[in-house]
Amino acid sequence: MDIRLTHQSIEEVAGDALIVGAALKRGESGQKKLALSRVGEAVDRALGGLLSELYAGGEFKGEVGELASVYTMGKLRFRRIVVVGLGALEKVQPLQLLRACSTAARHLQSTGAHSIALACDLQGASLDEEMQVQAEIEGALLGIYTFKKYKRSHTNGNGRGIEQIQVMVERGSHYEQALERAVALAEATNFARDLVNEPPNVLTPTELANRASLVARQFDLDCQVLDRPQMQELGMGGLLGVSQGSAEPAKFIILHYRGAPEREGSDLVLVGKGITFDTGGISIKPAERMHEMKGDMAGAAAVIGALYATAALKPAINVTVLVPTTENMPSGTAYRPGDILRIMNGKTIEIVNTDAEGRLVLADALSYAIEKEHATTIIDVATLTGGIVIALGNTIAGLFCNDDMLTHDIIKAGREAGEKFWRMPLDEEYAEAIASEVADIKQTGGKPASSATAAKILEHFVGNAKWAHLDIAGMDYIDSKKPYQEKGATGFAVRTLAELILARADS
Ligand code: BES
Ligand code: MN
Ligand code: ZN
Repeated sequence: MDIRLTHQSIEEVAGDALIVGAALKRGESGQKKLALSRVGEAVDRALGGLLSELYAGGEFKGEVGELASVYTMGKLRFRRIVVVGLGALEKVQPLQLLRACSTAARHLQSTGAHSIALACDLQGASLDEEMQVQAEIEGALLGIYTFKKYKRSHTNGNGRGIEQIQVMVERGSHYEQALERAVALAEATNFARDLVNEPPNVLTPTELANRASLVARQFDLDCQVLDRPQMQELGMGGLLGVSQGSAEPAKFIILHYRGAPEREGSDLVLVGKGITFDTGGISIKPAERMHEMKGDMAGAAAVIGALYATAALKPAINVTVLVPTTENMPSGTAYRPGDILRIMNGKTIEIVNTDAEGRLVLADALSYAIEKEHATTIIDVATLTGGIVIALGNTIAGLFCNDDMLTHDIIKAGREAGEKFWRMPLDEEYAEAIASEVADIKQTGGKPASSATAAKILEHFVGNAKWAHLDIAGMDYIDSKKPYQEKGATGFAVRTLAELILARADS
């Protein structure tokens, strides 16, 4: 992909198609007016008011992601102009720009464009220009993502797909950093999407560890992969218990990014749930949607992806990534309901349902973060509960956090990344449901508030650290295609975590 900024004017730049943004603003007398991007206005003039006429005629309403195509018939050096709606000008946030640019770029790719230009940044929006430029580039790069490696003939439109993107910016402006960030964040997100989209026979725990070590090699990061004997030595009874039913060996992946002087512990430890396939184990899941459980390592993909973006952008901060990874399978050697497992920090858990495996592998990883990494701030990311999908659907992820500042920082980073998080409760009353008669804790608290009781279990393993738990079940994967993305992995949380890391390094 050739992607670059251009300061040239609309008379000079050429390509197959140009995407211009169009929001709606209120005129002085209260009526709505079309607010075109700077380049969009120049295009409108060059085409004799054609773009304004699309709106005046009622055909184009300016809703987020709405598209209208016009052909320039030689009046400009682009064959086509695609106007994309951004909604109300005062409400334009990264999410609207991302979705709109993804939709437009995806549409152009599927209709045969190879070289496109972006000109969506708006004047008079509440969002600063730098963020707008970053969001439009990210949007385009995320929108043209496809996962077709297992199809014999895979084609984007008429074969090659989009190969060149020019970003039209004002003369004298400097958006090099926005471009660099956008490319790193989109690449990292698409890397994470590949991991989630890979079938579970390919992406085993061993293969996940291989891909993590490839990232480490590419960016010169420290990478360690622990095998069973080392996990036994550490007492990781949760991860080993879940993995004992599987023929695939479990792994514990440790990645270190060091961008700042060595301190006692990392500034931030990220933990990702890495269940490469979740059958439910002996408490087996119904067949109907079980195939989607190849995505049960999306938390792992998100944290490795976030470190990918971090390593590419080199902020001054130290970040550690921990991934406990295994399959959850039923077999003659599988763990059972009724078993009692001992986690690395010494606490015991009474197993009630082998399908609640995520909290067990995370318990060991969180314990490792405290004991071996001396973590003071931990964020774990996991497709942990069906309950969070019931509560928040596929729109917002659940955020459980024991610290108000960290909560605020994550929600803010999420807004910049166009990803939504909603704070959920960790009230002490929820702990009653996980009291056990025979062990320190019971593995599940039943149906009521199942996402909160799961979070309460994790809380037992985070010591005094500031800790956030992102339950991204429902956000990691879409089961039908959208105008802005194909069916499959979303790469959710990669960009929020990367934005958070960048913000922390700056402060
Ligand atoms: N991986 C699932 C959670 C999940 C459900 C992710 C739907 C994505 C979509 C998790 O391991 C699980 O099975 N959770 C159970 C726990 C229950 C048995 C206590 C759940 O939440 O239903
Ligand atoms: Mn499960
Ligand atoms: Zn699971």
